Amino acid sequence: MIKIIVDNREIQVKAGANLLRACLDHEVYIPNLCYMDMLEHPPASCRLCFVEIEGHEQPIPSCQVEAAENMVVKTDTPAVRRLQRTALELLLSVHHVDCGHCPANKKCELQNIARFLKVGLKPKRLEHSLKDQEIIDDHPFLNHHPNRCVLCGKCIQVCRKTHGAPLMDFAGRGFATVISFYGQQRADAVPCGDCLACVEICPVGAITPKGNQDQTIPCYKSAL
Ligand code: SF4
Ligand code: SF4
Ligand code: FES
Repeated sequence: MIKIIVDNREIQVKAGANLLRACLDHEVYIPNLCYMDMLEHPPASCRLCFVEIEGHEQPIPSCQVEAAENMVVKTDTPAVRRLQRTALELLLSVHHVDCGHCPANKKCELQNIARFLKVGLKPKRLEHSLKDQEIIDDHPFLNHHPNRCVLCGKCIQVCRKTHGAPLMDFAGRGFATVISFYGQQRADAVPCGDCLACVEICPVGAITPKGNQDQTIPCYKSAL
């Protein structure tokens, strides 16, 4: 074990532990959407988990850092919060906020992070734009809601883990990126039927079981 100092508190963690995971395990909350324990190389796509580390001029995404002896970390500085709020506002600028009609309401990570960062779900600083297609419904069991998706990639990863190969992937580029299901077309496709691993891992309400839009979805299983 090694010693690191987080927000002036000394904590013991395994040498080489992922810094984000180590902080979360010691009740230091750092906003995050795309980190998963199962990934050797976290994608760092959500840009929410910034911290300041002594010796580094700029804040760094904590999911990209290995804990090292005597590392001094600050999770709550003006620079960190500025970056996190900007990242969140960018996500919300392409998000259809309609919590009252969303099955993720009250267990949504976006709501939790917005509350934590004291950012309203409808920030005015950035122009708001939505994709034309509200629901992609070509999968036999699941619907994808592109305007709720935060593109964290967790559904793809958990599907890969569950079935050996993902039955979905990102499709399109930039603003047009969506999740595309293709498992049902594959000759060796595993029927997804009652799996729902992607529904459970989704931190928002962007994948829902068909015919179940108004019912609650299983609780979000964080970071695996
Ligand atoms: S995904 Fe979360 S923030 Fe978005 S509409 Fe649903 S509950 Fe609200
Ligand atoms: S559908 Fe959900 S789990 Fe998949 S990328 Fe979008 S937000 Fe993440
Ligand atoms: S959790 Fe680190 S960038 Fe998303």
